[in-house]
Amino acid sequence: MTSPASGTPVPPGPVPIGPAKGTPQPLLAAQGLTRTFGVGGLGHRRHLYAVDEATFEVGSAEIVALVGESGSGKSTIARLLARVYAPTAGDIWFQGVPLARLRSRADVLGYRAAVPMVFQDPFSSLNPAYRVSHGIIRGLKLHRPDVPAPDRLAEAARVLEAVGLTPGREVLHRYPYELSGGQRQRVGFAQALAYKPKVILADEPVSMLDISIRIGLLNVMARLRDDEGVSLLYITHDIASARYVADRMMVMYAGRIVESGPVEEVLGNPRHPYTQLLVAAVPDPRAELAVTAEMTKGEPPKVIDPVPGCRFADRCPLAREVCRRVTPPLLELQPGIQTACHVAADDVGRGEESAGGPVGSVQRQDLLLAAGRDPGQPERDRDPGDGPPA
Ligand SMILES: Nc1ncnc2c1ncn2[C@@H]1O[C@H](COP(=O)(O)OP(=O)(O)O)[C@@H](O)[C@H]1O
Ligand code: SF4
Ligand SMILES: [Mg+2]
Repeated sequence: MTSPASGTPVPPGPVPIGPAKGTPQPLLAAQGLTRTFGVGGLGHRRHLYAVDEATFEVGSAEIVALVGESGSGKSTIARLLARVYAPTAGDIWFQGVPLARLRSRADVLGYRAAVPMVFQDPFSSLNPAYRVSHGIIRGLKLHRPDVPAPDRLAEAARVLEAVGLTPGREVLHRYPYELSGGQRQRVGFAQALAYKPKVILADEPVSMLDISIRIGLLNVMARLRDDEGVSLLYITHDIASARYVADRMMVMYAGRIVESGPVEEVLGNPRHPYTQLLVAAVPDPRAELAVTAEMTKGEPPKVIDPVPGCRFADRCPLAREVCRRVTPPLLELQPGIQTACHVAADDVGRGEESAGGPVGSVQRQDLLLAAGRDPGQPERDRDPGDGPPA
């Protein structure tokens, strides 16, 4: 990948993204990833920044939880990674190759098989007219030349058993209406597994299920990681489930990643005021992410034509003058832990970088160049565009 501005090679991730388990090269890496949507009519066209400058990695055989309240941009990140949306700015790399370079149908199909999605609603994600075998065998035909036709039924049964649906050969013949919500969601994971994926994008896969059966699905995800070596991006608004199953966690607020690191660190010792409020709001580890009065006081975050400054400033008990002026960059304040907060950066003696001082501006410039943007352009004035569909 080269920077469009300079033509020089740009490695994925000048902002260090923390140690991912497994191989040194991440499976998926995103840098400066931004997606806007046009809102308003002609003459009043404005741009909603659903995802703004997200930089992160997913390593091999790890579960990364993406946590945030509704509307924070989680599903948009999943859709960008799945190539359902094209980025407005920024890049995504898969195994070191920029997605923008995948042009042929075969390449795109190969990527979709390597990075499949599992959706939230188990009741609409399976075609009621077909038996369970239909989707899995179809996936094997399309994406698994290594499985010859006579072996497909056995492989289909194997992936069902890998997600706890036994005996696989019997479940293959069932129709969706014969399955519970939890079983259907397991079939969703089995279909994804049939592709021999590297990273499964799981967007709120358990949130529509009864609490009593969620744990079984979380264990399926852990088994996919541990036994099949698959990574998962687990999108959720349920902190407790993220803590239960994930290795690392990224916290989103109003389109931006505000904190990331190992789950126990992020939740046990949160540095960002928003993460602190989230953790304080969930004293009961079984409770879901609650939006507290503390979080909702002040103006809602401005994601439409945002001006520079911290999106959380109007709600933050620690906000200072600089917070309303300068967008805090995501900085690695401790090894493996990134936080986007001026005060947290100050606490570790890096306030100047965070506030756009000499070192910080160099990092920001690098990011903007990598995202193909003019670093001199003010944030609100840059050309958002909606980008063509992938
Ligand atoms: N296709 C779209 N058109 C316009 N706005 C969208 C579209 N998709 C998402 N958004 C907006 O982007 C923001 C982030 O949405 P989303 O990624 O779905 O958040 P989450 O999954 O965290 O609830 C929201 O304000 C949402 O209204
Ligand atoms: S940058 Fe400022 S407003 Fe934003 S979270 Fe940190 S202290 Fe609060
Ligand atoms: Mg969503």
